[in-house]
Amino acid sequence: MAIKDLSNVEHVLFICNGGTCLGKGSDETTNQIRKSIADRDMNDNIHTIRTKCTGQCIHGPMVFASPGNIWYKGIVPELSDELVERHVVQKEIWQEQQLPW
Ligand code: FES
Repeated sequence: MAIKDLSNVEHVLFICNGGTCLGKGSDETTNQIRKSIADRDMNDNIHTIRTKCTGQCIHGPMVFASPGNIWYKGIVPELSDELVERHVVQKEIWQEQQLPW
């Protein structure tokens, strides 16, 4: 497998793929987020990582965005494209989906 060039990465999205989040659709959330990034031709700028449980099961599917330390809750597949549009493209914090800490 080739090593991905991460030198132009501006955002990393950690998408919980722990058991509870998977049960709430996070596998499809992951696929949809990746499709949304690819559709915008932003694969060089956005990196996604599937994670194990991030300890916020009740709020899942969880997505952690870095930089910014933003925790997003309830990112079901239907909200995946809007997350990419708001957080990555518009560079805003989607407050309705943010999990305060
Ligand atoms: S399985 Fe996603 S926060 Fe626990």
